[in-house]
Amino acid sequence: MNNGLEHESQLPAAEQALAWGDPEQAAQVGLGWYNLGTVRLQCRENAAAVEAFHQALVIAPRDVDTLYNLALALTALEKPAAAAHYYHRALAEAPRDPDILYNLGLLYRKMGRYGEALRYLARVVELEPGHAPAYGHLGTILTKLDDRPRAIACFEKLVELGHKPESARHMLAALRGETTAAPPGEYVAALFDQYADRFEGELMEQLGYRVPFLLAEMLREVRGEKVFRRLLDLGCGTGLVGETFLSLATDLVGVDLSGRMLDQARAKKIYSSLHQEDLLDFCRDSLADFDLVVAADVLIYLGDLQPFFQVVGRVLAPGGELLLSVEEGREGADFLLRESGRYAHAPDYLEGLAAAAGLGLVTRRRTGLRREREEWIYGWLYFFQQPEQGRPD
Ligand SMILES: C[S@@+](CC[C@H](N)C(=O)[O-])C[C@H]1O[C@@H](n2cnc3c(N)ncnc32)[C@H](O)[C@@H]1O
Repeated sequence: MNNGLEHESQLPAAEQALAWGDPEQAAQVGLGWYNLGTVRLQCRENAAAVEAFHQALVIAPRDVDTLYNLALALTALEKPAAAAHYYHRALAEAPRDPDILYNLGLLYRKMGRYGEALRYLARVVELEPGHAPAYGHLGTILTKLDDRPRAIACFEKLVELGHKPESARHMLAALRGETTAAPPGEYVAALFDQYADRFEGELMEQLGYRVPFLLAEMLREVRGEKVFRRLLDLGCGTGLVGETFLSLATDLVGVDLSGRMLDQARAKKIYSSLHQEDLLDFCRDSLADFDLVVAADVLIYLGDLQPFFQVVGRVLAPGGELLLSVEEGREGADFLLRESGRYAHAPDYLEGLAAAAGLGLVTRRRTGLRREREEWIYGWLYFFQQPEQGRPD
């Protein structure tokens, strides 16, 4: 494998080669820098890769692979505008390259420039009608933009292509106003695996998400600075609940379906254990009990809450407390699947299930959970308690 020093010592030779009109030698040196760049990119040495690709471009400024890989390295460095610039230069050389078009579409999606994202992703499926991932992104963006008919067409295409058909069917039901009892397992894990890296930035900075903080505030108002022995964080995601409740619990345990979300939670080093498992299975099988259980912004992925209330008591110690949040539903429906692919629940439905499970209502509160299309999504925060004598069977 080439090392960096070898190439750095060759740069003056490259300039000389160019100056003296020796194109063959210059091409060799340019290729060396390109190869070095790709190795650095694979090793995630992104800044060093950018440097190597720039050197390669001195010699071959229109080389498509170099421009494309430079854009990848800049994307990894969170420099989207610069990355877009190099994708465009690559496209000028290879206007029908689906990889360039696809990556540029994803980059614009990440930047929130949905119009441009749609344009490039639509070009991908025009050139490659079987490009399932492009249909997936198109469907999601069109859903966000409220273009229901075109979003439906994209998810129908995914079903036809047999690409994650269960997830596509879930979104089709959501867009057609049909409520299902629960989302397919593959939907939640896939959604959050691909969302994990952007989750905290997008949710907290752009969407004003603050459920963990509001739940902790509600708990403090009733229990003061009481420190709990063991906290179970159901649907822990990247660990925002863990961070928020750190001073309120001695031991933190997290459960989530998404491996990539759990990686982020693990990196915080605040949980004593993290489990990649469906929360219903965890509650059903766990031998441990917890004096505080938190389900922040996760029941929105459960639909029918009967199975949840049937098992959550199993992990609550006698007198244990349960904090949860739900999105507010429509009157007359116990729960409904919204166009977003998330579920909303009616307060009397939820309170009825909790009462049937023997949980006492300590307090509840209606609040804005997060913003969507410039408006607050409203929901309810709940604080329940297991009876001191334990779970009624
Ligand atoms: C919107 S995030 C909220 C994460 C975290 N509770 C917070 O407040 O930041 C929802 C999380 O719940 C997880 N999740 C959804 N359904 C689940 C289930 N049935 N079992 C376990 N985790 C689930 C998702 O993978 C995702 O990480």
